[in-house]
Amino acid sequence: MQATFLVKEAWELLEKSMVYFRGRPVGTVAARDPYVEALNYDQCFMRDFVPCALLFLTNGRSEIVRNFLIETLALQSSDKQMDSFNAGQGLMPASFKVELWDEEQYLTADFGEHAIGRVTPVDSCLWWLILLRAYVKATGDIALAHQPEFQHSIMLILKLCLADRFDMYPTMLVPDGAFMIDRRMGVYGHPLEIQALFYGALCSARELLSGRRGEFYKQIVNQRLSVLNLHIRQYYWIDLKRLNEIYHFRGEEFGETAINKFNIYPESIPYWLTEWIPETGGYLAGNLGPAQMDFRFFTLGNLMAINSSLASDRESQSIMDLIEQRWQDLVGYMPMKICFPAVEDLEWKILTGCDPKNVPWSYHNGGNWPVLLWSFAAAAVKTGRTELAWRALEIAERRLSEDEWAEYYDGRNGRLVGKASRKFQTWSIAGYLLAREFLEHPEHLALISFTDDPEMLEWMGYARNGYDSQKC
Ligand code: GLC
Repeated sequence: MQATFLVKEAWELLEKSMVYFRGRPVGTVAARDPYVEALNYDQCFMRDFVPCALLFLTNGRSEIVRNFLIETLALQSSDKQMDSFNAGQGLMPASFKVELWDEEQYLTADFGEHAIGRVTPVDSCLWWLILLRAYVKATGDIALAHQPEFQHSIMLILKLCLADRFDMYPTMLVPDGAFMIDRRMGVYGHPLEIQALFYGALCSARELLSGRRGEFYKQIVNQRLSVLNLHIRQYYWIDLKRLNEIYHFRGEEFGETAINKFNIYPESIPYWLTEWIPETGGYLAGNLGPAQMDFRFFTLGNLMAINSSLASDRESQSIMDLIEQRWQDLVGYMPMKICFPAVEDLEWKILTGCDPKNVPWSYHNGGNWPVLLWSFAAAAVKTGRTELAWRALEIAERRLSEDEWAEYYDGRNGRLVGKASRKFQTWSIAGYLLAREFLEHPEHLALISFTDDPEMLEWMGYARNGYDSQKC
């Protein structure tokens, strides 16, 4: 189908997905599928609204984004209770909906206490900060972020994210299913996607904080950014050279001189990887913990690591090289694969708890998701590899409208519309439009991308010295 028709159709559908609260637009529903029961897809999800919001911002329609930020800020202070247990104050809802009582409209939030599996939406507060910063960048309305309620909200999020925990790593420790993959998938611990969003959120907070307390927080944020950056670049990176090193790791090393710090056993390198890793190209691992390196390729984590500059320039180029060289696996017939490869057999049973929705090459377990197009386009613009994103866009254009803007696709190469996929999924629609927007107007990339900050680089110098003196 011709791009102009697609764009027109997509915009019309997006307009219809808008949620109104007391006469004002405040978000978009997750899907408007007329064929199946809505469950919670008639709600506005925080993460699903992000591509819509960025698109509205690039089109000068900031009002809906402003309303969204104000309303979700108010929801942050609402009751977050499950079976009498109160969740952390800074937590932001996974989703919300408009309800009617006594002919008056109210917003009610779901912090995971209603969601399938009762999963914690850790990514919501991170996306919220990233979006607030994008709104300020697009509109220049820093006054909104400097309002006391907004400063308070930012600090609540920071307190929750930076709180002391039982953890020796600078990465953020989360339960399973804490982000876009919101079902059990063996992505608990220190999954890459959360770390990339955490990094982007901290960069955003640093730009938004004001006043004396704000200055104090900025110092803490800068320290954390630098050690997080070092940790991810140093330990999550995988390419052929690094794989060779891991392959020759010795186990059971004790003390400060250990090279194999996390005690990764070479036997845990999966067979598929030694065949799959290209000569040039690499990526950031899915997760890292004691004797655990998740070697799966997680697309959104890698792309957001590029966009936030958590990955170095060289690493970013390498990630794009890998996508180019493993195109059929990662893009296939519908951009893009959420993670590669799928877990199968006994591993599927253990990691997913026998989840029939996450069978191999379906849904979160190796399905293809059109929404990933926008972050791919952004990463392509950032790395100067736009020809790749145009190619992906053309592939998507063959199917999106015909398949009624499906939520996800199944199969090794994403040829089948997902078994339980929703139709008219809003973030598939907005993801397509936003990808075009970034490619046609690269200056909009500034809304979602970050560059290394000089103050942080200075801290990195200190932190690196710390690492080096440990080694001596
Ligand atoms: C599914 C997805 C989640 C998304 C939600 C609404 O639960 O896994 O990432 O936010 O649907 O589209």
